[in-house]
Amino acid sequence: MSDKINSTDNISNKQFEYMNLISEIMEIRKRGDKPLAFIHTYGCQQNVADSEKIKGMLKKSGYDFTEDVNEADFILFNTCAVREHAEDRVFGNVGALKSLKRKHPEIMIALCGCMMEQEHIANKIYKSFPFVGLVFGTHALHSFPELLYNSLVKGKRVFERGYDDKKIYEGIPIKRDGSFKGWLPIMYGCDNFCTYCIVPYVRGRERSREKDIIISEAKEMILSGYKDITLLGQNVNSYGKNLENKVSFAELLKEIDSIDGDYWLRFMTSHPKDCSKELIDTIAKGKHISTHLHLPFQSGSDRILKQMNRHYDRKKYLEIVNYAKEKIPGLSLTSDIIVGFPGETYEDFKETISLIKEVEFTSLFTFIYSPRVGTPAAKMDDPVHYEEKSKWFRELLAVQEEIAAKRCASMVGTTQKVLIESKKEKTNELNGRTSGNIIVELDGNEDLIGTFQNVEITKARNWILKGKLS
Ligand code: 5AD
Ligand code: SF4
Repeated sequence: MSDKINSTDNISNKQFEYMNLISEIMEIRKRGDKPLAFIHTYGCQQNVADSEKIKGMLKKSGYDFTEDVNEADFILFNTCAVREHAEDRVFGNVGALKSLKRKHPEIMIALCGCMMEQEHIANKIYKSFPFVGLVFGTHALHSFPELLYNSLVKGKRVFERGYDDKKIYEGIPIKRDGSFKGWLPIMYGCDNFCTYCIVPYVRGRERSREKDIIISEAKEMILSGYKDITLLGQNVNSYGKNLENKVSFAELLKEIDSIDGDYWLRFMTSHPKDCSKELIDTIAKGKHISTHLHLPFQSGSDRILKQMNRHYDRKKYLEIVNYAKEKIPGLSLTSDIIVGFPGETYEDFKETISLIKEVEFTSLFTFIYSPRVGTPAAKMDDPVHYEEKSKWFRELLAVQEEIAAKRCASMVGTTQKVLIESKKEKTNELNGRTSGNIIVELDGNEDLIGTFQNVEITKARNWILKGKLS
C-alpha cells in the first residue's frame, strides 16, 4: 500500500481489557465508590473531540466526571500548542496542583494533547513537575487505557509520545459533552506546513476517515437528536485525497446533507487554497448546510501570505468570497487573522485592514503572532516589538467591531431560524444561534433549549442580536 494512502484499524481488544482492569482496580481502591475524573480541555474543537473520546474510555473504565478538581481521583489537562499563551496557562495550572497531590498522593495527574508531542515540553514536564504521573501525545490516544493502567499499577511515571503511523483508529468509545450540538471529526493532521504553525508537527500527516464510517456516525447523531453537527478537520477541503476510494469534501457534505431530519450541518476549518466552487455550490443547494463559512485568510498582504506558505493571494481569496456571497444569500463569513507575522510592516497590516473592510466578516478570530519552536517562521527576523503589534491588533479590533455592528444592525426586522442553546445566568433570557452562527438573546422558557425556533430580530447590540419568538 502506498504510504500516501490512509489505513484504518479498530482500537485493539487489548485496550477494552485494560478498561475492564482499571474498573476492577478502582472499585477496590475506592471501596465500591465510583472514581471521579476531572478533564480540562484547552484549544480547538479537535481537542474537544479528542477529550470526548478520552471521556468515553474513562466511562468504560468505571469513572464518573466532576467539575471540582479537589474531589477528582484522575485529573487530566488536554493541552494546546498553537500559541505560547495557551502553553503558559497549562504550566501555571499544572503547577497549582502540586499541593493537592501532596495532600492526596493517591490522585493521578495527567497531561495529553498537542503540547505533549513536543520533546522540549515533555522534557520540561518530566524535570519540573515530578508529581505528573502520566503524559501522552495526540498519537497515543488509542492506547490511553493501557497507559492509564500502567501509571496506576506500576508505580512509575508513564511518558508516551507515540509516533505518526498515518493510521486512523476507529471504535474508540465517545462520551459527547452536548446532547444537541456535537463534533464529528472527518480527518486528522495537516500537510500544509504554514510557516507559523505547529499543528503539522504535533498532529502529524493528514489522514481522512472512511466516508461510510462518517456517514453512519452522522446518521446515529441525527437519530439521537443532534441538531447542530460540525464536521471537523484542520483543512476539511482536502478531505478524501488520501483515501483508496477518492472522494471530495463536497461529495461527503452532499451525502450527509441527504440524511433526513431537522438539523444543521457545519464544518471547519476550510483552507482558501482548496475551497472549490463545487463546495460553494453544494452549500448553496444544501438542505441542512448552514450559511456560515469560516475561511481563514490570515493576512491581506500578498507578500506576507507568501512568507506564510499559504498558496493563495488576496485576489484568489476575494474571488472565492465574492462567488460565495453571490451564491449563498445571507452568507455569514468568519476568519482567522494573525497580526505581526515576522517581517510584517504597517503597510502589510493595512492590507489586512482593507481586506476586512472589503469582505465585511461577521466576526474574526484574531491573534498576535506567537513564535513556535521548530517552525520556519520562528527563525525569521522579527523586528517589530510586541507593543507595536498590540497597537495594530487594537486598531483591527476597532475596525471589525464597527463592521460587525453594521452587519448585525442590518438583520433587525428579519425573522431567523435559531437553535436555542442555553439559559443566561441570573436572567430569564435564553441564548441561541442563527445558521450564520450569530448569537441571539431572547425571552423564553428553558424547555426550548435544544429546539429550533423562529425568532424576530428586534435589536442589535454590537455583534449580538436581540429578538422575540415569532
Ligand atoms: N501565532 C499566532 N496565531 C497562530 N495560529 C496558528 N499558529 C499561530 C501562531 N504561531 C492561528 C491561525 C490559525 C488559528 C487556529 O490559530 O490564525 O488559523
Ligand atoms: Fe496550521 Fe496551516 Fe495546517 Fe491550519 S492549514 S493547521 S494554520 S499548518
